[in-house]
Amino acid sequence: MNVAMIDDRIVDANQLDSSYLDRGLYFGDGVYEVLRSYNGKIFALDDHLARFTDSLAGVEIDGVDMNQIRSRVLKAFDTAKIPNAKIYFHVTRGSGPRDHNPAVNMNPNFFLTISEIGDYSKSKINGYTVSTYPDLRWKKCWIKSLNLLPNVLAKMDAAKKGCDEAILVDENGLITEGSSSAFFACVGRTIQTAPTSANILPSITRKYTMKAAHNLGLAFIEKSLTPEQAKNADELFLGVTTKDIIPVVKFDNLAIGSAAPGPITRKLISEFEKFTK
Ligand code: PDD
Repeated sequence: MNVAMIDDRIVDANQLDSSYLDRGLYFGDGVYEVLRSYNGKIFALDDHLARFTDSLAGVEIDGVDMNQIRSRVLKAFDTAKIPNAKIYFHVTRGSGPRDHNPAVNMNPNFFLTISEIGDYSKSKINGYTVSTYPDLRWKKCWIKSLNLLPNVLAKMDAAKKGCDEAILVDENGLITEGSSSAFFACVGRTIQTAPTSANILPSITRKYTMKAAHNLGLAFIEKSLTPEQAKNADELFLGVTTKDIIPVVKFDNLAIGSAAPGPITRKLISEFEKFTK
């Protein structure tokens, strides 16, 4: 008998639930998306589905019907009836006996959760503290892959230091992004962030922050910063779907500006809000 063991329980390996054989679990062989709703309306669904399509192509998972994904998201969202919801979903290459080389014609697995986004107004008022951590990720960070161990380790390090987010620094000494957020600096009336490349996720919040900056007549430059430059910026902030723009008030223990959310960040937050109405 082929045997499997789940904690102390021995089971017939041929009778295992297929979720135990998911390649997402064995290899992180899958891609995901996180989107959200504001007051009962899903934000930037098309942007997220377009990025998801790119991620699937990036890891060569074929045969996923994007119309079906869209209907599943809408159906689950309708069922949950949560006005301010976080919608998570992933697709893995499929389930099967552990083999690096996937079987031909696997059936991709789809999984989705919807949960309420709690009150995060305090993080906008008080701001986040961040600490730097080496960017240990692979060379295709534009893919929203399930392989998040370097991001998890970075976040754990930040938490140990009492910080809210880890800011990843690559081997050239340049900031790429946060462990689960985009990173921005503000100097005068100029917003600066890393250029889109294989080294960062093409953040949807980044795209709308760029629009907000444009609407406010702010300059926007796509150029990576060093931690030193970040420390000397007038303001810093993060961008992430679940909370849009979050001010950063401390960077590696050093106060940014007056250690409170700055005026430009607050203006961007208000401008961003208009997109979500
Ligand atoms: N993460 N960079 C990384 C590495 C991220 O994981 C995220 C978001 C972002 C911001 O992307 P967006 O604006 O599209 O949310 C940037 C999510 C929310 C997560 O993994 O839970």
